[in-house]
Amino acid sequence: MSAFPTHLLSMDDLDADDIAEVLRVTDSFAEVGRRANPKVPTLRGRTVATLFFEDSTRTRMSFETAAKRMSADVLSFAAGSSSVKKGESLRDTIETIQAIGMDAVIIRHSSSGVPARVAEWVDSCAVINAGDGWHQHPTQALLDLYTVRQSFGGGQEGLDRFAGLRVTIVGDIRHSRVARSQISAYAALGAEVTLVAPATLLPPSLEGWPVASVSHDLDSVLATTDVISLLRLQAERGSGDYVPTMREYTMGYALTARRALQLPPEAVILHPGPMVRGVEIASEVAELPSARITDQVGNGVAVRMAVLFLLLGQGAREADLNE
Ligand code: NCD
Repeated sequence: MSAFPTHLLSMDDLDADDIAEVLRVTDSFAEVGRRANPKVPTLRGRTVATLFFEDSTRTRMSFETAAKRMSADVLSFAAGSSSVKKGESLRDTIETIQAIGMDAVIIRHSSSGVPARVAEWVDSCAVINAGDGWHQHPTQALLDLYTVRQSFGGGQEGLDRFAGLRVTIVGDIRHSRVARSQISAYAALGAEVTLVAPATLLPPSLEGWPVASVSHDLDSVLATTDVISLLRLQAERGSGDYVPTMREYTMGYALTARRALQLPPEAVILHPGPMVRGVEIASEVAELPSARITDQVGNGVAVRMAVLFLLLGQGAREADLNE
């Protein structure tokens, strides 16, 4: 098997073996999370910085919880209260962080490609992309995969279900880094991805995207969907301008209770959050047992522990989890 990459910038950095490894290691950390004291010494003496230049609730808390559960020191950097406000460049900020001495930098930025630039500037420090512009959000896709595998029995049995699995991604695909990462992730494991959106919320070209089909009619694909993943309209990226009215969008593309009934009984409903109830998903649908939205958030911590372990854990052994 190829070595795990030095940085996690995009789902395209990971092949099917790497993904299977992340999911397998996540099982170990999920077990740690169920303990009365969910803390292991794996990253003791290591320092992890979170650099968030864009709003976040769950991703930031999830990464910080993951690092703390592994006994790493966590430095939390909020752009709003940093020297970036005084005009310090990103490069100087990174130099400062490196001089302080970091083992990993977890970065979210509204511009696509920033984590990749940062990876060029650092040495001996792993860079993890926690969401860059419209581009990628790899740990979100990994936690989605983990949640789907868990819903289908976990382990190898759950993993085997991805081959030919019919995954439908609905909503603002054009502006969504989550969709881009999900598509790469599901395709790497052999799933068949269908995109559903109004034409204005699709990217101008889908050339090179590993998708099986595209539809503008949600009702027509529900009966043949095993996993449905909903996306928020990225209003901060101007998506309101791409739909005639919110009501029209909801009529055509929201997962309503009536539409959820058209899904096969085993189908899984996902949403990366934050959800806007009543727009892309009806409130009562979010509460259905088949909606695994809170499982996604919970699994996010274990998945991020696995990613930190695979990027930083050289020297730390999985066996040490049982210390
Ligand atoms: C997403 C994001 O920020 O990319 N949220 C998340 O990280 N769970 C999706 C979104 O903002 O709609």
